[in-house]
Amino acid sequence: MANDTPIQIPTIPLSDGGAIPQVGTGTLFAKGNELAELLAQTIRAGYRLLDTAAQYANEGAVGEAIRRSGAPREEIFLTTKVAGMDQGRDLTRRGLAESLRRLNTDYVDLLLIHWPNPSRGLAVETWQEMLELQSEGLVKHVGVSNFLPHQLEELHSATGVWPVVNQIQLSPALARTELRAWLASKGIVTEGWRPLGGSERPMDQIITHKIANRLGVHVSQVVLRWAVQQGAVVIPSSGKPERWHSNADLFSFELTEQDMIDLATLDLGEDAAWDANTHEEW
Ligand SMILES: NC(=O)c1ccc[n+]([C@@H]2O[C@H](COP(=O)([O-])OP(=O)(O)OC[C@H]3O[C@@H](n4cnc5c(N)ncnc54)[C@H](OP(=O)(O)O)[C@@H]3O)[C@@H](O)[C@H]2O)c1
Repeated sequence: MANDTPIQIPTIPLSDGGAIPQVGTGTLFAKGNELAELLAQTIRAGYRLLDTAAQYANEGAVGEAIRRSGAPREEIFLTTKVAGMDQGRDLTRRGLAESLRRLNTDYVDLLLIHWPNPSRGLAVETWQEMLELQSEGLVKHVGVSNFLPHQLEELHSATGVWPVVNQIQLSPALARTELRAWLASKGIVTEGWRPLGGSERPMDQIITHKIANRLGVHVSQVVLRWAVQQGAVVIPSSGKPERWHSNADLFSFELTEQDMIDLATLDLGEDAAWDANTHEEW
C-alpha cells in the first residue's frame, strides 16, 4: 500500500557551494511511457534527485516525467552523464546539447563523466569542456562516475578543479572504504549506484535481517542507511510505488557502531567491484 505522507529528503553540501539531496531515484526501472508515468509519480511523492544518462536511452521519458509531475523545474536536481562515445572536446558539448533537447530543459543540475574509459585518453579534455559548459550555465555542478583516485588526480592536475561528486557502485557488500576516505579527503561526495547491492545480495544476509528486525525497519532500509549514515548519497530505483517511501525513509533511525562493525563483514573487497582501469562503457 502506497504511503501518502510526502517524502522529506535532506540535502548535503557540495564543495562548489551547492547542495544535493541525499536520496534520489535511479531511472532504470521502466521504459518509455511507463517510466514517464511512474517517475512523475515518484516526483509527486517527494523525490527530487533524478539520475539518468545519455547511455540509458531514457532521457526523453525523464523529461516527460518532470513535465507531467507538475513540479517546478528549479525544485528538481537532474543528473545526466556524458556517454563514452561523447567524450572529447566538441563531442561533449554536442552530447550535452542532445541530452538537453531530449530532457526538454535548458540546463542539468549535475553532469557526470559516465566512465573514465582510459583506452581513449579523453577524460581530461571532456572535463575541461564540462567546466566551460558549467561557466556558460548549461550545467550547475560537474562530477564523475566510476573514477579511481589516479584518474581523478589527472583531472585535477589539468584544471585545478575536483569533481563535486563521484558516483560509484556502493553497498555494504562493496564498501569501497579506502576509495571513499580518499574522496572525502578531497571534498568529493560519494554517490552510490546499485545501493541495494544487486547480485552481491546484502539484503539477503542474516545480519541485515537481524538489524532490521531489531529496528523494526525493512532490510532495504538497513542497507541504504549504511551508506547515508557515512555521508553518501544513494539513488535506489524501484518500479513499485509501495517501496518509494521506505527507500527514502532513512533518517528516522540510526545504526549503532556495532551494526556498522557487523555490516562491515559483508564487504567482498575492492576486487569485487568493476575495475575502471579496464572496464569501459561506450
Ligand atoms: N554510474 C553508473 O555506472 C551506474 C550503473 C548502474 C546504475 N546506475 C544508476 O543507479 C541507479 C540504481 O541502481 P540499480 O537500479 O542498478 O540498483 P538498485 O537501485 O540498488 O536496485 C534496484 C533493484 O532493487 C529492487 N528494489 C528496489 N527497492 C527495493 C526494496 N525496498 N526492497 C527490495 N527490492 C527493492 C528493484 O526492484 P523493483 O523495481 O521490483 O522494486 C530493482 O530490482 C540506476 O537506476 C541508475 O540510475 C549508475
